[in-house]
Amino acid sequence: MTTTLAAAPLSLRSAILIINALILVFLVGVAVAAVLDRRRRAVVAPNKEEYHGDEVMEGSRLERMQAWALAMGAVFAISLPAYWLIEPDRQEAQTDYLHEISVEQGAELFALNDPEANPAGLECAKCHGAEGEGGAAVFIVTMPKEDVAVTEGGFESKKRRCAPSKDNDDEVQCDVAWSAPPLNTVLLRFSREEVRDIIVYGRPGTPMPAWGLEGGGSKNDQAIDNILDFLESIQLDADEAKAAQAKLTDGQDLFQANCARCHTKHWSYATTFAQSPEFDVLATSGGGAFGFNLTGDVTLRQFPTVEDHVEFITTGSDFQAAYGTRGIGSGRMPGFGSMLTPKQIRAIVDYERSLTSERVTLDALTEKGDAPEPGTEPATGTTGTEGGEE
Ligand code: HEC
Ligand code: HEC
Repeated sequence: MTTTLAAAPLSLRSAILIINALILVFLVGVAVAAVLDRRRRAVVAPNKEEYHGDEVMEGSRLERMQAWALAMGAVFAISLPAYWLIEPDRQEAQTDYLHEISVEQGAELFALNDPEANPAGLECAKCHGAEGEGGAAVFIVTMPKEDVAVTEGGFESKKRRCAPSKDNDDEVQCDVAWSAPPLNTVLLRFSREEVRDIIVYGRPGTPMPAWGLEGGGSKNDQAIDNILDFLESIQLDADEAKAAQAKLTDGQDLFQANCARCHTKHWSYATTFAQSPEFDVLATSGGGAFGFNLTGDVTLRQFPTVEDHVEFITTGSDFQAAYGTRGIGSGRMPGFGSMLTPKQIRAIVDYERSLTSERVTLDALTEKGDAPEPGTEPATGTTGTEGGEE
């Protein structure tokens, strides 16, 4: 007790505790003194002891009692309104205080693990960037042989990135840097509950692990709440997020920067193949991956009018809510109204409505546009891939 008091300045809470303890000691002292006093004087039987006369009883003694009653009344008259005035602020301060602690704990969970300085670290920062600005994760993907185009040297090349799968002749395995999306805008795209869902269950088939107990991870609701509180504290506001993409006007560029990672198979590691001349990967823009296939008039059937389509991209999907002609949302399609301007969304929609099922190389897909993928901005594009066989 004394050590903690010496370490921290006296808070209101401990001051009140100390005052209460002093009052208690005082009252016990008074009671003990009264008992001792009575014992010492108890020579005459109480009913024989002469008491004050009427003069005193109805005079000075009565007045003294009234004065005490007035004083006690005054204590209540002052303390109740004072309590009423202070309490809401106190409660708010307490909530803020608990929230601050939660954000701090979330930051520790988010950061890199260090057995001494930060044993709680879950290393979100390793993949998503120290500030949640986005990054990349080393991963081995298994893909159908027919999706990989072997060019110069191919499998025989020394620094080969891909190798035929040992288990399945029709598959190829490649070391890639899988882009991890920025998390400092994630709450502009998803609701808090939707983000909770992603963190708890992860994204099976991608480097994003499940962290919540329900998803097979190790973290309870409290820890997930701490992470969410931390994520809330690092969110950019909508204007900042929009400014980051203000230069993009072309529908294809915008699609590649915002949508392709979920809707175009292999897109999440396109930068890996952009840097390895021996291999290229065949993909269909908007051909479907985690998000649905958007090619071949599919979106025209789902959204007969451009307005409906724009509305959907603006708000995204909600769990079990109907959208379009026959869609039922899962809450996994983000809304882009806080990250893109209506004009940009319109450009994406026009591009989307023209998508065909043509298969081309990732290089060819990126040739036209020069849009950087979010999260793979210059410094992070190849994080860790040089090591190869990790
Ligand atoms: C090993 C790397 C890795 C680690 C560690 C990691 N993530 Fe991820 N995370 C990813 C990747 C990769 C994706 C994108 C998956 C995809 O392509 O669908 C992702 C996706 C997400 C998304 C969805 C974002 C969006 O816009 O789609 C959230 C939210 C997220 N991660 C939060 C976290 C949190 C919180 C932690 C730490 C508790 C964490 N991640 C740790 C790699 C990682
Ligand atoms: C985090 C992954 C993710 C990102 C990023 C994403 N989507 Fe989706 N999208 C989905 C999922 C998942 C669905 C399926 C609907 C659902 O589960 O709610 C979907 C559904 C859709 C649909 C409806 C298709 C249908 O036939 O029902 C359209 C259109 C669409 N997305 C367009 C876009 C556009 C445009 C962008 C970029 C501005 C985008 N998506 C970004 C995951 C994503």
